[in-house]
Amino acid sequence: MNRPARDAAPLLSVENLTVRYQLGRGLTGRARTLTAVRDVGFTIGGGRTLGLVGESGSGKSSIGRAVLRLAPVTGGRIVFDGQDTAAFGRRTPLSFHRDVQVVFQDPMSSLNPRQTIATTIAQAVTRHRRLSAAERDREVLGALDRVGLSGYHRDRYPHELSGGQRQRVAIARALAPRPRLIVCDEPVSALDVSTQSQVVNLLMELQRELGVSYLFIAHDLEIVRHISDEIGVLHHGRLVESGPADQVYRHPSDPYTKALLASTLVANPVRQAARTARRRASAGTGIAPGGGL
Ligand SMILES: Nc1ncnc2c1ncn2[C@@H]1O[C@H](COP(=O)(O)OP(=O)(O)OP(=O)(O)O)[C@@H](O)[C@H]1O
Ligand SMILES: [Mg+2]
Repeated sequence: MNRPARDAAPLLSVENLTVRYQLGRGLTGRARTLTAVRDVGFTIGGGRTLGLVGESGSGKSSIGRAVLRLAPVTGGRIVFDGQDTAAFGRRTPLSFHRDVQVVFQDPMSSLNPRQTIATTIAQAVTRHRRLSAAERDREVLGALDRVGLSGYHRDRYPHELSGGQRQRVAIARALAPRPRLIVCDEPVSALDVSTQSQVVNLLMELQRELGVSYLFIAHDLEIVRHISDEIGVLHHGRLVESGPADQVYRHPSDPYTKALLASTLVANPVRQAARTARRRASAGTGIAPGGGL
């Protein structure tokens, strides 16, 4: 991939981020904490994608939530569009709520089951803009069209759609306020393999069209590599490797990244064969790692 940066100044800059949760008092009465993220740094430029990978519990969602101001930033800083977000204090400005959106793994739980798709998207469209009823309806149809849905889906409820269609609705809702950054936290992990690639391709198309940036979180390095310009690999809350997507994928330098590559579960038999070769290589059988997948 290795596309040149479209924007010199980063849109998001995460510097020495530490996220520590307070766990309450233990049996001894001492306050306990859990450090989920330690000293993590990365940047995302306008119209670019940073992929974060790592096993369960490695701190991926904590980073995403810290960016969204939903997890405690105990150390370091998060600078969005030149502004240190710590300066917001308790009152996050409306402009930040509009500019930074999120798509979660499970659209069934993130969409209101009692609302039609049109109502859900209309709320997102009108949250930050004053629109007439006719303008709002036009925006809703435009938002559905952009993610490959039609007027037919407008009056459906979430349970009447497929998993992929529901995730398209979640993407349309995230895009409705015209954000500059979307935190995508495992947005395709709950979908079957063919639907995963459709949704990933849709996200990439939307990025080309709208110039939105993504912090794309997943545990599957294959998917992350496909969508990302840069990749960061997390292990126990630390960034053990980062760099251009192809470089990290083809020439991983950290032993954990190599192990992650070897263990990624993929249904595609061509990829499976390449993975087996890589696994043999990392086991020291002399077969070169990497491969054009
Ligand atoms: N609100 C919280 N309070 C206390 N501990 C938390 C909280 N949220 C996450 N943790 C802990 O922080 C660590 C990192 O969790 P996080 O959800 O960031 O991992 P993850 O990489 O997203 O994992 P997964 O792939 O399973 O989603 C875990 O040990 C988790 O138990
Ligand atoms: Mg997570």
